Amino acid sequence: MFFLVVLALLFCTEAQDLQNVFLLHGSDLHLDVKKSVVLDKKTDFFWKFNTTNYVGKLSYNNEAVLFDSYEGRAEVFGRNFSLVLKNIQHSDSGYYTAVVVGGQEQSIAEYKVIVQDPVSRAELTVDHLSSTSDSCNLTVTCSTVEFNISSTFRCDAQNCLQVEEKSLNVSKYFSSLIVYLQQDTIFCNHSNKVSWKANKKVIKLYCEIKSDGISVCVVKTVVFSVSLIIMVIAVISVHLMEKKKKQK
Ligand SMILES: *[C@@H]1O[C@H](CO)[C@@H](O)[C@H](O)[C@H]1NC(C)=O
Ligand SMILES: *[C@@H]1O[C@H](CO)[C@@H](O)[C@H](O)[C@H]1NC(C)=O
Ligand SMILES: *[C@@H]1O[C@H](CO)[C@@H](O)[C@H](O)[C@H]1NC(C)=O
Ligand SMILES: *[C@@H]1O[C@H](CO)[C@@H](O)[C@H](O)[C@H]1NC(C)=O
Ligand SMILES: *[C@@H]1O[C@H](CO)[C@@H](O)[C@H](O)[C@H]1NC(C)=O
Ligand SMILES: *[C@@H]1O[C@H](CO)[C@@H](O)[C@H](O)[C@H]1NC(C)=O
Repeated sequence: MFFLVVLALLFCTEAQDLQNVFLLHGSDLHLDVKKSVVLDKKTDFFWKFNTTNYVGKLSYNNEAVLFDSYEGRAEVFGRNFSLVLKNIQHSDSGYYTAVVVGGQEQSIAEYKVIVQDPVSRAELTVDHLSSTSDSCNLTVTCSTVEFNISSTFRCDAQNCLQVEEKSLNVSKYFSSLIVYLQQDTIFCNHSNKVSWKANKKVIKLYCEIKSDGISVCVVKTVVFSVSLIIMVIAVISVHLMEKKKKQK
């Protein structure tokens, strides 16, 4: 008995499962029904759009009927109840529900479809640059036509660091902008769920730090000098030992 209740609860939560589908404007929408459906004389199947519109239906003879505004651009498949809607437009954004209608209406699949345009370009510009021979500070702006973020990078002889990682989520456009450092390259990435555009700048082209070269040079000089001294000492001691042998 308890088992049955749990099963029923699972069934309920599954029935309310709403899935988000993000789609590029102009592409084709494919929606599936994962539950098995059996139609009979008294039971029809519909794909609904929002609360009051119908896309198409299947009756128990499995013949698909599309309603006026969807004729020619939609398909409902009799075998698996899938829906295909071609060349999707912004006006197609909304809720799609698969319903079985007999004595009452039962929803068996529900999707929220969000149609997006490709994101606009992401520009990366260097606003401030202060550089000495051993350190360098760089402030960049990562921008789109709608919004921008700026971030500062600091380099010394060894490496470069981003002072703080910057990102911006703009829910109005469903898009986000991020500026980050990967190895010695700054990336500015504008993305939404269906597309992204990025731009980059190599830090070395702006910051020329010479101290790295100097320190390598110092190390080489020290190593060279030490080995030279050891060699000279060795030669002298060999010479002295030979002299001692001869004196004996
Ligand atoms: C449903 O059937 C159609 C036509 O046979 C097929 O193109 C589509 O891939 C099927 N969808 C699934 C989810 O099996
Ligand atoms: C469908 O519903 C969505 C979400 O409520 C709404 O934004 C959209 O305008 C509706 N579309 C139509 C054609 O009614
Ligand atoms: C970079 O910024 C840090 C912290 O503000 C500062 O200590 C350093 O001198 C700056 N370097 C240059 C080259 O301006
Ligand atoms: C960045 O956005 C601010 C407004 O938030 C604007 O005043 C500024 O001009 C923008 N900068 C760039 C480089 O687009
Ligand atoms: C923006 O959204 C992405 C996922 O969509 C998330 O990973 C990131 O942390 C969010 N950034 C901010 C600043 O909220
Ligand atoms: C930009 O962001 C998108 C979405 O997060 C990601 O798939 C893509 O790989 C990123 N591209 C770069 C160059 O960082």
